[in-house]
Amino acid sequence: MYDFSANSTQPKPEFYRELLSAADALTAGESDGIANMANLAALVWQLVPELNWAGFYRAIGDELVLGPFCGKPACIRIPFGRGVCGTAAAKRETQLVADVHAFPGHIACDADSRSELVVPVLRGGAAIAVIDLDSPRQGRFDDEDKAGFEALAALVADRI
Ligand code: SME
Repeated sequence: MYDFSANSTQPKPEFYRELLSAADALTAGESDGIANMANLAALVWQLVPELNWAGFYRAIGDELVLGPFCGKPACIRIPFGRGVCGTAAAKRETQLVADVHAFPGHIACDADSRSELVVPVLRGGAAIAVIDLDSPRQGRFDDEDKAGFEALAALVADRI
């Protein structure tokens, strides 16, 4: 078992530097994408505060299919363009949603979710997956979280 830590009370840029360093160490040299996604979901779940769901959806054909995650069991297939995840994948743009109830078409997998951050993982210009984070607190995510997870997505794009 690995024991990584990151101090979530420090400024977010420093926190994300530590998270990325741990993610890099955890996935470097491992070629199995499922294993890497599983460990990354567990790492984020362990270190990032105020989450009720953290994990991956993988782009397969014209839909997203549930990948490794931590949290309650979730919807398995999401068409591109549907919900927060499908919108992030179709637009290849991060979706930062302060209030999920105000997002048209939000898919409620866990009734506890109040805000959501979905970051596409891009390889060769295509969205190969998304990283999905849900929080029970409205307005949980800001631009520093967006930047941190976009950096994480870029780091792992060739490892998942
Ligand atoms: N809320 C997401 C669905 C996935 S769950 O949050 C795990 C969406 O609207 O795409």
